[in-house]
Amino acid sequence: MPRRCLSLTFGAILLVLAAGLGLGAGRLATAASPPGPELAALIAAGDSSACRECHEQVHQQWQGSHHARSLMGLDDWIFMQPYLQKGPLAVAEAGQATRANFPCAKCHLPQLLEAPDQAAAQLAAAVLANDQATVRRLNIGCLVCHHQKAVVHGRPQPGVIYGSRDIPDHPGQPVKHSPLLKDPLFCGQCHGLGPNLELAHPVQCATLYGSYLHAYLPSGGSRTCQDCHWQNGDHSAPPDFNRRAETAQRLRQSLPLEVEATAYRFQPKDREYQPLLVVRTRVTSRAGHRVPDG
Ligand code: HEC
Ligand code: HEC
Ligand code: HEC
Ligand code: HEC
Ligand code: HEC
Repeated sequence: MPRRCLSLTFGAILLVLAAGLGLGAGRLATAASPPGPELAALIAAGDSSACRECHEQVHQQWQGSHHARSLMGLDDWIFMQPYLQKGPLAVAEAGQATRANFPCAKCHLPQLLEAPDQAAAQLAAAVLANDQATVRRLNIGCLVCHHQKAVVHGRPQPGVIYGSRDIPDHPGQPVKHSPLLKDPLFCGQCHGLGPNLELAHPVQCATLYGSYLHAYLPSGGSRTCQDCHWQNGDHSAPPDFNRRAETAQRLRQSLPLEVEATAYRFQPKDREYQPLLVVRTRVTSRAGHRVPDG
């Protein structure tokens, strides 16, 4: 399935077929040099491995999810590479890159928005060198969801982890209750409403939350994103498009296709026969939004 991302720049619409471009992008892995200090600090601050010891199962589920490789397309393709090489986000050399070259970070790496510009320049160097090992360590980890994106009224309190209840003696950092985690708006912060017109180079990528709000709920839908995608706290957030057989199996169940066909011969004139076929198809969607998105 082609995965698309739409950028709107200077009134021109640039349609990028992400999967298609992925085949062409520089795939040869280069020997990686260690990330610069600001990028290393960003990686360390977002490192989820400290939570693994006690939340083993959640960590394992998360690690297999798209959230754990949020700067990667299918098969670990670094999708920012073509954008930094050509078009309005391109830079002549990595050192010139700032956070403004990464509007995609709003949803793919929100912690970059609070980091210094040097971190963006060092990230650009890693992206252009196709340094998959470094880029993979930058992701939507535990604290992006359980801290940075866990409150919308005001700012998250420093050092607090947000969860479904208060646990003041939680090891390392206290856990506080945030009702937002159970709300579809939580996911909607990144799963998109439409073009992000507040950005200098507006980008339209994920728009599925718009479809949930404006189509699914008004037609009587009552389930949340979490009901369908986060059952029993499962952090693997399927579908995983790298697991193609499993995704095909899921889609057969969630978008069932019924086909009915009638074949007959039509006789417009004496001894002239035209074979005709009537095919009726019906696709039912069990999703809470449009599929595919993007
Ligand atoms: C030393 C063990 C330990 C470590 C390390 C740890 N936790 Fe916990 N955490 C716990 C325990 C125990 C609970 C309570 C579990 C329960 O009763 O369900 C908990 C509960 C939570 C909850 C609340 C669950 C709920 O019901 O909403 C969240 C969220 C959480 N931890 C996130 C994290 C994150 C993120 C990290 C890493 C920064 C982390 N934890 C590191 C032991 C740990
Ligand atoms: C408003 C938030 C948002 C912005 C801004 C955004 N994206 Fe996305 N993007 C998403 C979400 C959410 C997904 C996954 C869900 C989906 O496609 O519905 C996604 C999916 C993708 C995928 C497919 C990934 C895969 O594993 O197959 C690519 C490639 C992508 N985005 C590239 C970009 C690029 C490049 C930019 C910046 C030019 C960008 N996105 C900006 C939210 C965003
Ligand atoms: C993309 C966002 C996201 C990421 C990333 C994420 N979580 Fe969660 N987590 C949630 C949401 C949403 C819930 C609440 C689900 C509900 O209550 O319906 C949750 C619930 C939990 C719970 C309580 C549910 C349970 O299984 O007992 C724990 C513990 C937890 N997360 C720990 C973690 C840890 C540890 C990580 C990193 C390995 C992590 N989470 C990464 C969104 C996230
Ligand atoms: C911080 C932003 C952010 C939050 C919050 C977030 N997501 Fe995502 N999600 C993404 C991005 C970005 C991707 C795609 C990453 C990639 O593959 O490059 C993604 C991927 C996914 C996927 C895999 C399918 C796909 O198209 O890649 C599912 C399913 C998903 N998210 C569901 C959820 C649900 C449900 C919630 C709320 C409980 C949630 N997400 C919260 C940003 C987010
Ligand atoms: C009624 C159940 C339901 C609800 C509610 C729901 N989803 Fe889905 N979602 C599905 C189904 C079914 C699919 C099809 C793929 C599959 O079966 O895994 C899907 C697919 C997706 C995908 C992959 C889209 C693609 O391009 O293929 C993402 C991302 C996603 N959902 C996120 C969300 C988010 C975020 C919300 C809340 C705003 C949400 N979903 C609400 C059932 C639901």
